[in-house]
This record gives sequence, structure tokens and C-alpha cells, in this order.
Amino acid sequence: MAGEDAERTFVMLKPSCVEKGFIGEVISRFERKGLRIIQLKVVKMSREKAEELYKVHYGKPFYEGLINVIAGKTVVAMILEGRKAIGVVRRLIGATDPAEAQPGTIRGDLAINLTDNLVHASDSPESYQREYRIFFEDEELQTY
Ligand code: CMP
Repeated sequence: MAGEDAERTFVMLKPSCVEKGFIGEVISRFERKGLRIIQLKVVKMSREKAEELYKVHYGKPFYEGLINVIAGKTVVAMILEGRKAIGVVRRLIGATDPAEAQPGTIRGDLAINLTDNLVHASDSPESYQREYRIFFEDEELQTY
């Protein structure tokens, strides 16, 4: 990985982002910030993959609704790299609840529902390590 404080993060554009035609809008915000796209794929989410991604939320009141908005639908999975990428991407995306997200953030500008809040991103290096493996093989990451 190139550069001081370089870090990678996993991002998933949720089905609503794909269906509303916001793939390019969201990716361009990441690129304009200076993040590098290491890998990117369009994926039909199986229920198994959805449950694996969100297993930390198993048992919470919103868990079933969350799985239902993702399972069987098309998402875009990607790995981004840049300085302090995990925090940078979380701040670009904005608060989990789009109704509370600041204008200027992705959720603040483009979403309003909590369960289907447009974008998911890893919240720690440990989450990144777990989450990217659900979608990518290590051999696929040798792109730069
Ligand atoms: P995400 O960043 O993908 O991580 C967990 C997801 O659960 C979250 O975004 C929301 O889509 C969803 N969710 C639904 N209800 C809640 C809630 N009350 N608190 C947190 N997350 C919620």
C-alpha cells in the first residue's frame, strides 16, 4: 500500500443506490476526495452473504428488515484505499440515520430511510478484514 497512513476500507452500495441510479454519483464523490478504487464488482446478494455481512446485528429489532432489503438484490461491492480511508469514508457517507446526516454527506444529500440508507462502509480495520473477504479473493486485490 502506497503512502503515509494508507488504509483500505470496504464499501457496499445498497440496492436502493443501484435502483435509483446513484452508482456513479456516489463513486465520483469517493474519487473526487482522492480515494483509489482497488476493486469493484456488481453482485447479486445471496441471503447467506447478507447474513454474513450483518451478523453483528443478529437479534436486533431491525435485523430481519435489514436482511430483507438486501437479500436477492443487486449491490456494488468495492475496496477503496487512501489516507485514513476508514474514517474518511464514514465521514463522507454521514450518520447512519439519513434523516440526521449532515447536508453535504452522501446520506445527507441522497437518502432518507434508515434501514435502506444507501451505502454501507466498514467501521474499523477489523470490520474491513472480515467484510471484504465476503466479496473478494486476495488475488483480486493486486490491481495497483
Ligand atoms: P449500515 O452502515 O449498513 O450498518 C447496519 C445497518 O442497519 C445500518 O447501516 C442501517 O441500514 C440498518 N439499521 C436499521 N435500523 C437501524 C438502527 N435503529 N440503528 C442502526 N442501524 C440500523
